[in-house]
Amino acid sequence: MTDRVSFLGLGAMGWNMSARLAKAGFNVTVYNRNPTKAEAWIAEHGGTLAHTPAEAAEGAGLVLSCVGADDDVIEITVGPNGAFSTMPTGSIFIDHTTISPTTVQSLAVDAANAGIEFLDAPVSGGPKGAINGILTIMLGGPKAAIETARPALESYGAEIRRMGNVGAGQSTKVISQICVAGLLQSLCEGMYMAERSGLDIDEVVSILSKGAAGSWMMNNQSATIKAGTYDHGFAVDWMRKDLGICLSEARKLKVDLPVTALVDQFLGDVQDIGGGRWDISSLMARLRHFDSSKAIDL
Ligand SMILES: NC(=O)c1ccc[n+]([C@@H]2O[C@H](COP(=O)([O-])OP(=O)(O)OC[C@H]3O[C@@H](n4cnc5c(N)ncnc54)[C@H](OP(=O)(O)O)[C@@H]3O)[C@@H](O)[C@H]2O)c1
Repeated sequence: MTDRVSFLGLGAMGWNMSARLAKAGFNVTVYNRNPTKAEAWIAEHGGTLAHTPAEAAEGAGLVLSCVGADDDVIEITVGPNGAFSTMPTGSIFIDHTTISPTTVQSLAVDAANAGIEFLDAPVSGGPKGAINGILTIMLGGPKAAIETARPALESYGAEIRRMGNVGAGQSTKVISQICVAGLLQSLCEGMYMAERSGLDIDEVVSILSKGAAGSWMMNNQSATIKAGTYDHGFAVDWMRKDLGICLSEARKLKVDLPVTALVDQFLGDVQDIGGGRWDISSLMARLRHFDSSKAIDL
C-alpha cells in the first residue's frame, strides 16, 4: 500500500526527507509550489513530478508533507486542488509541518469525512538530521496507521514515537520548542561572553561540551555561531511561528513562559535586522549587533 508515496513541500526539510525515501527504494511523487525546485529534485533523485497536491495524491497510499505554517497545510489538504480531494479511501496523510494542535484536530475531522487518516508528525533534528536519516518524529494518531507508514518514516527518522491521539505530536513539539528557545539563547550568551573575555572559544566549547553545559545545540551549532554564519538550518521566521503556537497553547493552560516570551522578542529583533530567513542561532547576531559596550562608545 505504501510503495507509492507522495511528498508535498521540498524545502530545507522536505527535500532531504523525500530524498531519503527515494534512496530507500520508494516510488516517490513530489510536489512543490515552486515547480523549478521539484524539477531539480526529479533530476537528482528520479520519481514523478506532480503540479498540484491533488495530482500528487491521486492513487497514493501514503501522502507526506512538510510545508510552512498552518495556512499552508490547510491549502495543500483542503484548499482548491488539495490532496484530500483525490486520496483513495483508507489512505494516510502524515504532516511533518510544525502547526498548532487545533489546526491538526480540525484537519483530522476533514480527513475522516473524506475516508482518510490524518496524522500529525512534527520532526526535530534539522536538515542535517534529515540528510542523515536520524530525525526524531513525534506522532499523533492511530497506531495501525503509524505501523503502515513506519517503513517510509524509517527512511528519514531514527526515533519514531506515538505520543497519543491526533494533535499529541504537535503538543510534544511545543515542549521541544520551549526547551530549544531558552537553551539556544543561553548558548549564544555564553559564547558571546567567551568572545568578549578573549578566551579561546574552541577550547571553551571543547571542554564545556564534556560537562553539564554540554548540549545538542553546543555540539551542532557552536562552530557556525562562532563564525557568524547563519545561512542554513531553521529559519527565524519559522521559529517565531512555533513560539507563537507555544505562547498561545500556554495561555489556554494559564501557564507562564517568561523565557520563551523573551526569546520570541529577541527573534523579532533578528527579523528587524534582516534575519528572518537566517538560522535561529543568529540570536548571536543580535547580541553582537546590539552590543551595549559599543553603544556606550558611540
Ligand atoms: N528547518 C528545520 O530545521 C526544521 C526543523 C523541524 C521542523 N521544521 C518545520 O518544518 C516546516 C518546513 O521547514 P523548512 O525549513 O523545510 O522550510 P522551508 O525551507 O521554508 O520550506 C518550506 C516548503 O514549503 C513549501 N510551501 C510553503 N507554503 C506552501 C503552500 N501554501 N503551498 C505549497 N507549498 C508551500 C515551500 O514551497 P516553495 O519552494 O514554493 O516556497 C517550501 O518547499 C516548518 O513548519 C518548520 O517549522 C523545520
